[in-house]
Amino acid sequence: MKHSEYKIWFDSISMEFPGVLAVDDVSFGVMPGVVHVMMGENGAGKSTLMKILNGVNTPSKGKLYVSGQERHFSSAMDAKHHGVAMIYQELSYIPDMTVEKYLMLCNEPKKGCFIDWKGVSREAKKILEEEGLAYDPKMKLRDLSVSDIQLLEIIKCTRGENVDVLVMDEPTSALTDKEVSRLFEKIENLKKSGVTILYISHKMDEIFKIADYITVMRDGKHIKTGKASEFDENSLVALMVGRELSNVYPKETVPIGDTVLEVEHLSSEYSRLKDISFHVKRGEIVGIGGLMGAGRTETVRAVFGIDKFDEGTIKVDGHPVKIRSVSDAIRAGISMATEDRRRLGLIFCRNIKENISLSSLDKISKFKFIEKRKEKQITQMYFDKMGVKAPSINYHAGTLSGGNQQKVVLGKCLMTDAKVLILDEPTRGIDVGAKWEIYKLMVDQARKGMGIIMISSELPEFIGMCDRAYIMNGGRITGELDRSELTQENVVRLAAGGKK
Ligand SMILES: Nc1ncnc2c1ncn2[C@@H]1O[C@H](COP(=O)(O)OP(=O)(O)OP(=O)(O)O)[C@@H](O)[C@H]1O
Ligand SMILES: [Mg+2]
Repeated sequence: MKHSEYKIWFDSISMEFPGVLAVDDVSFGVMPGVVHVMMGENGAGKSTLMKILNGVNTPSKGKLYVSGQERHFSSAMDAKHHGVAMIYQELSYIPDMTVEKYLMLCNEPKKGCFIDWKGVSREAKKILEEEGLAYDPKMKLRDLSVSDIQLLEIIKCTRGENVDVLVMDEPTSALTDKEVSRLFEKIENLKKSGVTILYISHKMDEIFKIADYITVMRDGKHIKTGKASEFDENSLVALMVGRELSNVYPKETVPIGDTVLEVEHLSSEYSRLKDISFHVKRGEIVGIGGLMGAGRTETVRAVFGIDKFDEGTIKVDGHPVKIRSVSDAIRAGISMATEDRRRLGLIFCRNIKENISLSSLDKISKFKFIEKRKEKQITQMYFDKMGVKAPSINYHAGTLSGGNQQKVVLGKCLMTDAKVLILDEPTRGIDVGAKWEIYKLMVDQARKGMGIIMISSELPEFIGMCDRAYIMNGGRITGELDRSELTQENVVRLAAGGKK
């Protein structure tokens, strides 16, 4: 087949960053009007390659052909002008911007040479209505959840005219099942109208639902491109990881101790939580389940002092504690990895070592001095265990791949000696091999007597890892399930507001 018959042809493309060959001599083609899925472990080079396609990155070597023409896009604007748009893995937005301004950004209706702000409001309102999104266009982005913003971003990108190549970098990482099916419908429609879609994801089930073609990358190299029917889950994992992986969860039940965290009658008008009561014992992994919007994240945010609550008591080790801020929570022995790690978790201008050790300074310091050797030793251990892909722990955290940034944030939380550890969607965006390591680290911490709270939208992981779970619906707990009752059916029924 000639290059010209492909919509996109990557021709021996390489991209080097200082110390990292992120993309290594990659060649393959993408057929027009298909969904072409890109797979590979964290740091395999997927995002870097896609950013070459949309003009954000300039390759160190190789050529890019779009519709048979050699192209060098100088910027994302330039690429979009030629019909190539991309939805990024890391959402970046200005928290104070309103929904309407964000939706219409760079696409504002004009009156003469001025922006027609009334028109912006009108258009945005119309779009929101058409998409069935019931919020006020004047709302600030900071008041939306990650999934809302992700949806807005997708809408914004797919509404642009003349886009005929659309890159989606993990677009569903924060979407609910319902939102995902809506997105897939949208993708089907785009495909019908001839748009070529490049789709990056770590979620096996969705890949096999939508992929026409799959390309696997490993360590910057192209491993295989083929029709989706040529792959199955096992062969894909083997190609990605370069070895076989077991599918069983490394769950071990460790001795369960006394109650370490007790939350009683917590209510909050702001977070729409009603009379939440639950407890966690030492050594227990307790799940908080439910659909997105049920109040899971809101509950743990309140416990961790991010959001205020109106009523309720929190006890740690049997003693009531006042939690009015995150530092109160940390002082009380609670640690948390938030779902939106980019916004709340990582200090980009610091290196990996400093990021990991930051929240455990007392563990590595003596008389207020950081023991450099100890810091290095401990952070190196987490770095190795989680398989962070970077040349060393002295590497800048901001330049890591999306999944590797998450590993660093999780490492940071897992390293603390907290009594209670809250993990909100701990494996989101993390590749299959590293998920396994995270589960094992969770069990290790439980064995040391830590009480763990886990929120996860992936049911197999939720059921596989929790000793006990509370399921929420509409800001309330609708039921409690112990390990023997933890079945998909029970979780789904309670999550829908049903009875046990
Ligand atoms: N701006 C940059 N500066 C230095 N190194 C970078 C930069 N961007 C990416 N890298 C490195 O390039 C490699 C590939 O990263 P990339 O983001 O393409 O991975 P990915 O396949 O998208 O992974 P993930 O699934 O975690 O998102 C990583 O080792 C990363 O640290
Ligand atoms: Mg990526």
